[in-house]
Amino acid sequence: MCGIVGHVGLKNSVSNVVEGLKRLEYRGYDSAGVCFKSKKSELKLCKKSGKLQNLIDSLEEVDLENSHACIGHTRWATHGEVNDTNAHPHLAENIGIVHNGIIENATKLKSELKSEGMKFLSETDSEVFLGLVVRAFKTTKTLQEAVSIAFKQIEGNSAFLIMDKDREEIVAIKRGAPLVCGSQSHGSDIFTSSDPYALVGMADTIYFPEDEVICVLDIKTDPLIQFFELDGSYSKRFLMQEQEMNLELSEKGEFEHYMLKEIHEQPALIRSFAQYYSNLGGISFHSLTGIEPKLIHVVACGTAWHAGLVIKNFVEKFNKIPCNVEQASEFRYRNPLLLEGELGLFISQSGETADTLAAQELCTKSGLKTISVVNVEGSTLYRNCDENMLIRAGIEIGVASTKAFTQQVLTGYLYSSALLKKFEDGYYIKEFNLLADRIDSILNRSEEIEEIASEIYNKKGFIFTGRGSYFPIALEGALKLKEIAYVHAEGYAAGELKHGPIALIDEEMVNIAIVGKELYDKTVSNIQEVKARRGIIVTIGPEGDASLEEMSDYYIGLNYTDLGDLAPLYVNVVNQLLSYYMAKFKGTDIDKPRNLAKSVTVE
Ligand code: M6R
Repeated sequence: MCGIVGHVGLKNSVSNVVEGLKRLEYRGYDSAGVCFKSKKSELKLCKKSGKLQNLIDSLEEVDLENSHACIGHTRWATHGEVNDTNAHPHLAENIGIVHNGIIENATKLKSELKSEGMKFLSETDSEVFLGLVVRAFKTTKTLQEAVSIAFKQIEGNSAFLIMDKDREEIVAIKRGAPLVCGSQSHGSDIFTSSDPYALVGMADTIYFPEDEVICVLDIKTDPLIQFFELDGSYSKRFLMQEQEMNLELSEKGEFEHYMLKEIHEQPALIRSFAQYYSNLGGISFHSLTGIEPKLIHVVACGTAWHAGLVIKNFVEKFNKIPCNVEQASEFRYRNPLLLEGELGLFISQSGETADTLAAQELCTKSGLKTISVVNVEGSTLYRNCDENMLIRAGIEIGVASTKAFTQQVLTGYLYSSALLKKFEDGYYIKEFNLLADRIDSILNRSEEIEEIASEIYNKKGFIFTGRGSYFPIALEGALKLKEIAYVHAEGYAAGELKHGPIALIDEEMVNIAIVGKELYDKTVSNIQEVKARRGIIVTIGPEGDASLEEMSDYYIGLNYTDLGDLAPLYVNVVNQLLSYYMAKFKGTDIDKPRNLAKSVTVE
């Protein structure tokens, strides 16, 4: 989704912003632009549709060094098609803005401004906010006041950066959309962005403002970043945190794609995760430790929702607590029954997914305690929940989530154990290390999986099947394949095939069948049914199972019998590799698949 970056400093503002925008490319975008203040004290605008490189090329003539304030944007179109005009920033009467999010009452506001004679160049809702700031600035002394007046008039979740030609200053504000500011302990460069990752290596202190806090970045004030309420009084509603991320950790290194690198990171992450929580004596919930919820609402989107389906199995099996697992986009609008003594558990890699945030807010408003299973510390979800369990996956750049899924499920496993107050010394280390070893062993067999991928990638369609704890793995396998290989794939509970989807089976359809220990015979019968209709069978099953191998066109034998409840995570890595190699044979943009965004910050 859209990314925003701003910089104020003595020089090089445009270069700093472009560097930040490069880091945000992974989030998905369709155009990019910058607005900056040059020596001549006027605002300059440069924006291009397509890749960031188009913008960089168009900046060749610009005196980058002598820029002292700059705002930049990568756009993921919501209002108006992808073209240079609709790209951000937008500029009018020497005020420039960039915007993330959606202004829900934009149509009404636009006709109001038009009736007053205002002209609009783009089809975007963002330009409406610019119009409001321009109008307000005619009656206020400062840009900050004008922004405050304009911001009170808009509805919906948004983040903005605003600058004008007369000051080397950026004003930033948000509601329900990500925004951070950053400063240096040595140096006078100050930054703002929709993602702290954009500022790695540039800012060492990160500030997370709350909703409706106005941030003013100005190198002539002390402190350089100041926070205000909408009424102009000073605000303390922000969180300050040291930036611990290391740029090297976020590079591709020897791998061709981030996705492949992230798949390969899993064993090491699992080992250090086990060690980390073991050193802490397990997961502890300060205020919630004593709570035995009557029911848990597990709410998430996409891959995180699949992780929720696996976690449900743990909690219902070990803790005997019913779990209701729901997609956040449904949960938030269906008036769910939320009762006293229930708990909301929200799973999200980014901690910024708009639907998940809204679902969390709904639970809080209904008086439920909320816990996050989240990767990004300091994200909105992290800040809004009563308790947080960090999945410690490190930065995930590939749009297709891989290592975050594994870590989400493991965190859920520890959560379930925490509810049982079960953290025997070293137990998790042994169990998690065994899983890490097995994942290592499958990574060492990548060539075998690549070979299978080369033979099936151009088939008509793919049905992933599994039963019990492998059903969510089937769903996740299909999602991964759809996302990056752009082929039609479905995940089905194996027993459901004959209730409809079996009609699709012919010699051009591939069934990727996961066969676990549970319900072995029944799952094998389902494979027979597909075979009888000439479907192509790729089985992921127990190592050394000759009859199953005989029945399958391709067989991936795994040693998972001693992995217990964590075995689905092992199988899932096979699906990750299969999707990766199929996408590679299809020649798609694996790390930044078309139409997708890493973090879905709008509805
Ligand atoms: O950041 P989140 O975990 O909240 O994101 C949720 C989904 O948008 C995300 O998992 C999406 O489905 C991934 N692209 C899947 O690979």
